[in-house]
Amino acid sequence: MRMYDIIHKKRHGKKLSEDEIKYFVTEYTKGNIPDYQASALLMAIAINSMDKEETSYLTKWMVNSGEVLSLDSIPGKKTDKHSTGGVGDKTTLICAMIVAALDVPVAKMSGRGLGHTGGTIDKLESIPGFRTSLTRQEFIELVKKNNIAICGQSESLAPADKLLYALRDQTATVDSIPLIASSIMSKKIAAGSDCIVLDVKVGKGAFMKTFDEARVLADLMCEIGASMNRKAVSVISDMNEPLGYAIGNSLEVVESIETLKGNGPEDLCSIAIKLAANMVSLAKDIGYEDAERLCKEVLENGKALGKFREFVKCQDGDTRVVDDYTVFKQPRRVFEYNSEKSGMIKSIDSYKIGNAACILGAGRTVKDGKIDPSAGIVLERKSGERVEKGECLAKLYTDIDNIDNAINILNTAWEIEEGV
Ligand code: URA
Repeated sequence: MRMYDIIHKKRHGKKLSEDEIKYFVTEYTKGNIPDYQASALLMAIAINSMDKEETSYLTKWMVNSGEVLSLDSIPGKKTDKHSTGGVGDKTTLICAMIVAALDVPVAKMSGRGLGHTGGTIDKLESIPGFRTSLTRQEFIELVKKNNIAICGQSESLAPADKLLYALRDQTATVDSIPLIASSIMSKKIAAGSDCIVLDVKVGKGAFMKTFDEARVLADLMCEIGASMNRKAVSVISDMNEPLGYAIGNSLEVVESIETLKGNGPEDLCSIAIKLAANMVSLAKDIGYEDAERLCKEVLENGKALGKFREFVKCQDGDTRVVDDYTVFKQPRRVFEYNSEKSGMIKSIDSYKIGNAACILGAGRTVKDGKIDPSAGIVLERKSGERVEKGECLAKLYTDIDNIDNAINILNTAWEIEEGV
């Protein structure tokens, strides 16, 4: 088999066979295919797409490129959730606690933030002492003991995705539906859970810009899950505006704790409950309404907050953060970003807010770059609210003195309709 012929076939829009896809994934992972040929095939796929069968084979061989974690020693149906990435998206910190408080095991491997989007691992590491690096045995034992463990993605699971994702990032081939679907599902399947809930984000701050695209991606991922004997459901959620008010690592943990205490913002509570209810419904094999009622109960009676405390303790984090937010690292400076006009807030561009937070220190622009756990943005108002000229639109938290670059981005992030 020759890589040249596989590229040629896809370049002309033809369907690849399982053997051709297997050859590409396994030989590229072994280092036997040069990056320029792999890039050419990725570009041909990004342009001419792949059908469901090809995407399932691609996922299958990406899974087989590494280990598949066995969670069989943990009793019950294990659940996982995945978000396609967003701004202010701290839902895992809430829904995973709700689900675990209902005795459903959550075995979750999460990622770090890259570019304008945040990642659960960075958020958790803002809790002093919190350990996101767990051995396989520790991970399994914690899920058995406490129904929940969250750790960083293991290097040995779906290594083909790691290599291909890095190449896609450099060759403008990230936003291709079959490539995103196989990338996400290969990691989720290799991570071993029986039930997977997918939160597909749509809007300015997401990879999928339209609802129709998000629907296609969501359905494709569920079908891939089913073809590999996993129960998968998807939820499509809005990412035109940041989720909740806080963007930045410790700021988002604080907002999550407030949500677990019953003081969360409406948009965040509603998506967290929706995701948790889907996870519980799949794992317990009960209807969505019954699952939703159970989830609301443990959020209201404090059991989900108790689960968060236990979770932080079990992974060596400082549990004082739950009651005293000054235990988090504090930023050196807090700036107010004020409105230049009076009117109704029509929209807040989450992509721009995410990028500005990144510049303030909340995210990294290069892989493995350092982040400031205390940096970020807290919105003071959201769309549909009125603001007067000179009033605060957002507070900016940072250790840096010159925030001009962040301000330049923020200057076009709010759309305010005057005279309303
Ligand atoms: N998240 C992933 O893990 N992979 C993609 O391709 C896009 C988002």
